[in-house]
Amino acid sequence: MASAETSRTRPPPPATEPARILIADDEPAARVGLRRALGKAYGVIEAADGREALRLIDAERPDLVILDLNMPVMTGFQVLEALQERDAAPRVIVLTAYGSERIAIEAMKKGACDYLAKPYEVDELRLVVARELQTHRLVEENERLRRAIETPDGFGELIGRSEPMRAVYDVIERVSDLDVTVLIQGESGTGKDVVARELHARSGRRDAPFVAVNCAALPDTLIESELFGHRKGAFTGATSDRKGKFETADTGTLFLDEIGDMSASVQAKLLRVLETKTVEPLGNPEPVAVDVRVISASHQDLVEATRTGDFREDLYYRLKVVDVTLPPLRARRDDVPLLAAAFLERFAAKHDRPRLELSPEALARLTDHAWPGNVRELRNVIEKAFVLATGDRIEPRDLPPEVADAPPAPRRGVEEVVGLPFQAAKKEVLRAFETEFIERKLRDHDGNISRTAGALGMARQSLQQKLKELGINVNRFREG
Ligand SMILES: Nc1ncnc2c1ncn2[C@@H]1O[C@H](COP(=O)(O)OP(=O)(O)OP(=O)(O)O)[C@@H](O)[C@H]1O
Ligand SMILES: [Mg+2]
Repeated sequence: MASAETSRTRPPPPATEPARILIADDEPAARVGLRRALGKAYGVIEAADGREALRLIDAERPDLVILDLNMPVMTGFQVLEALQERDAAPRVIVLTAYGSERIAIEAMKKGACDYLAKPYEVDELRLVVARELQTHRLVEENERLRRAIETPDGFGELIGRSEPMRAVYDVIERVSDLDVTVLIQGESGTGKDVVARELHARSGRRDAPFVAVNCAALPDTLIESELFGHRKGAFTGATSDRKGKFETADTGTLFLDEIGDMSASVQAKLLRVLETKTVEPLGNPEPVAVDVRVISASHQDLVEATRTGDFREDLYYRLKVVDVTLPPLRARRDDVPLLAAAFLERFAAKHDRPRLELSPEALARLTDHAWPGNVRELRNVIEKAFVLATGDRIEPRDLPPEVADAPPAPRRGVEEVVGLPFQAAKKEVLRAFETEFIERKLRDHDGNISRTAGALGMARQSLQQKLKELGINVNRFREG
């Protein structure tokens, strides 16, 4: 089940765009020559002086720079010096006059990675460029791996090191800086809000506004003016101009939460905004241009909604250029101890009290629970336990009954019971078998006792007796 749930979180295909090279040379003829040699295989940008080169390096982030050392305004040497201050500088090949190897070596001491003497052979140029780009790619890949290893317990605000969460981090990392729409799906409380904010915080729009709109919280009549704005007098009650969220989010990110609850007419308008990149505030015939990245989220199955006609298919595909599906907590139980510890730390800071530990029994109950409310439920349970705990550790008695009363994880194998006397060992294994068998049947019948009893060939009353004895909570099998 976990794999079916996570396989939808597919990373986007690897970037196939050609590498981009900045050519910085004040002689137009020299730039033409370089462009002719490299323009077919790579994307080429040009700068005519050092200052322009620096600006383009920051704005365009080329993969490689070919830098003439003799330029007006700012020389190649000054560009190299400025780049040494940068955290992430591209690799630089310098161009020097024939016979000035000494200067080339100076340039390499200042951070250039290779040099070519003018006039250069085109083949040699291409070879050096290809080699440097290859090195650049390896360095980037190493950097990516190093970051992945360095933050094993989470990613930004997200906590978890399980396989399905790592797949989520990978997608976030790849797409946060691309201007594509992202659709985040997952059950309630799985962290869709956190992911949306993380995408924004890691994008080039991080200093611009992040605006969230909960589409389910607003009645249909209000949502249009909320999203697109209105002008004074557009309808009764519109006593002044009002900017819509699209305009408020201009140059930033707009997070449309619970997108599945939008009416057909709002869906149609939203689609038009995404296609034209303009909004038409109510009562204003003039479209207003907006530059907004849209991230949306839904806890409903939108594919199903498109099938039933409740959600426009064309809009669905516009919104999910990339999709991230968050796993339910029960599909990543390994993360429960990590999350619990992180929340305990947070609450200790928030309430300005010493940290509490979880007893091993309490931790076992937490790991066994089905968490229908996912991380939000876990967070709430931990906060309540933290506030109410009387001892210096959190014990099962500090947890709410639906968590605390779950049966202890059954011991299944001979290995686990071999230390016990024969009768006790037999009882343990039998109990584990009974629990597992009955739970499987309950799951098959959605927790319906009569039908489960029928499938087991047992009387309803005997089943109820057994459930009590084994401490099985049927509600666990009744949700969703
Ligand atoms: N991976 C995570 N790491 C740390 N905290 C998390 C994680 N996932 C969720 N949370 C926390 O759980 C709570 C619920 O998360 P969030 O609001 O993002 O859920 P949601 O998927 O948007 O739910 P809903 O569908 O109800 O809007 C928040 O307090 C959030 O900080
Ligand atoms: Mg949410």
